[in-house]
Amino acid sequence: MTQLAYAETTPMVTADTDDAVRVLSVKHWNDRLFSFTVERPQSFRFRSGEFVMIGLLNEKGKPLLRAYSIAAPFWAEELSFYSIKVQDGPLTSRLQHIQSGEYLILKTKPVGTLVLDALLPGKRLYMVATGTGIAPFASLIRDPEVYEQYEKVILTHTCRQVDELAYGADLVQNTLSDPLIGEFARDKLEYLPTTTRETSPHMGRVTNLMESGALFDMLDMPYLNPEEDRVMICGSMAMNLDMKAICEAAGLTEGANSNPGTFVLEKAFVG
Ligand code: A2P
Repeated sequence: MTQLAYAETTPMVTADTDDAVRVLSVKHWNDRLFSFTVERPQSFRFRSGEFVMIGLLNEKGKPLLRAYSIAAPFWAEELSFYSIKVQDGPLTSRLQHIQSGEYLILKTKPVGTLVLDALLPGKRLYMVATGTGIAPFASLIRDPEVYEQYEKVILTHTCRQVDELAYGADLVQNTLSDPLIGEFARDKLEYLPTTTRETSPHMGRVTNLMESGALFDMLDMPYLNPEEDRVMICGSMAMNLDMKAICEAAGLTEGANSNPGTFVLEKAFVG
């Protein structure tokens, strides 16, 4: 069956579909990444950093759902999401063609461990992302509570290529100039984008930059320590495991909602 025939026989989500929300805007960052906003269902509450299940209908008319971090803070009027385009991915091969005014399914049951509640109080909060793993931090860096609880907030974003950093650069720029949160962010937020396969001002995997100490030198901050530092990790499985090992070697312990610790991690949605 060709892609077109498949698309033509697949039912669309409509306003009448269970848990349907209207798409408000779509932005394509390049041929591999896009972001979109949807209306926020009335009475939907979530904590910054959490994820929900969103999706479309499959050819049998059943929901085809995947986990997506909400890339908007808890106070936002619209919900935002950031996604990779996987050309043969069951969901993103179709979701990447969504247009404003169309509908998708959103299950209003937020969950996740990349939340302030899963961390013990600390001085500095590191948010370590690769690829689309930056999405939950797009929520958290716009949450005033983050700046109330921490003296410094450090967002690192490692991608292969420079054009994959655009979403994060835009996000940080908008956060710094935001009338509500900008004042706190300008004072406390540090942003460190790095690339691994294309030249940019900061090169290398965040893990290597931490292990060598280069990252802490650049930020003029001490090496990770469990008394002062808290870490949130979101990216590929390989990065999560390497960062987890770095945190544990530094004496940090993994936290959960039921048992707060000094670092937390979540796998980024991949396809
Ligand atoms: P690299 O180019 O060295 O593999 P991916 O697209 O594969 O998810 O990777 C996104 C970014 O995460 C890339 O810059 C990649 O670097 C980096 N990365 C992949 N694996 C790891 C890891 N184990 N630790 C740190 N960064 C990683």
